[in-house]
Amino acid sequence: MPLMDGLRVVMSAIHGYGVVTTRPFKQGERICFGDGVLYRRDADFDDTYALIVDGEQSGSGEDVFWDLVDQTRWFNHSCDPNCDVESKWDAEHQLVIAWWVARRDIATGEEITYDYAFVAEAAEPCACGTVKCRGLIVDDDPAELARLPDHLRAQLKPSIRAAS
Ligand SMILES: C[S@@+](CC[C@H](N)C(=O)[O-])C[C@H]1O[C@@H](n2cnc3c(N)ncnc32)[C@H](O)[C@@H]1O
Ligand SMILES: [Zn+2]
Repeated sequence: MPLMDGLRVVMSAIHGYGVVTTRPFKQGERICFGDGVLYRRDADFDDTYALIVDGEQSGSGEDVFWDLVDQTRWFNHSCDPNCDVESKWDAEHQLVIAWWVARRDIATGEEITYDYAFVAEAAEPCACGTVKCRGLIVDDDPAELARLPDHLRAQLKPSIRAAS
């Protein structure tokens, strides 16, 4: 697999492996596309590295999982990310087209991050270390926060918990 221009996999200060830039990126610039393998909701597989594209967003009528297989597999979550992920369903080829865009200028050596916005059932403790950290990797939509079980809600930062 070819290396992606401007990206390098490293040990991350956030978690495990992560990806840093080897050149600057401008706000609005596309960082890369993410290659993957498609799984349906009823498939038995490890979804740790998969983007989930819901049925409405995909236009396919069902949630689909795009198991990332290139350097994007190692992009970590941040509650104050420097990138957004976008995706669309390619019905003709039955695949997801996913790409990451810089939310702001990104300097050489910064770790690439995006907001995983996990549903409540998938929420995990967050180690992004930003001042905006919610305490959990979870969608910040109040309706989603309200669905958190008590033991996870307790790990939300107080300001986020108060608003949920
Ligand atoms: C797609 S993997 C990212 C690569 C991961 N660092 C690794 O080495 O396998 C997603 C998993 O990484 C971990 N992760 C990513 N961002 C994190 C964060 N901000 N805080 C804690 N764990 C994180 C979580 O366990 C998450 O389910
Ligand atoms: Zn965080």
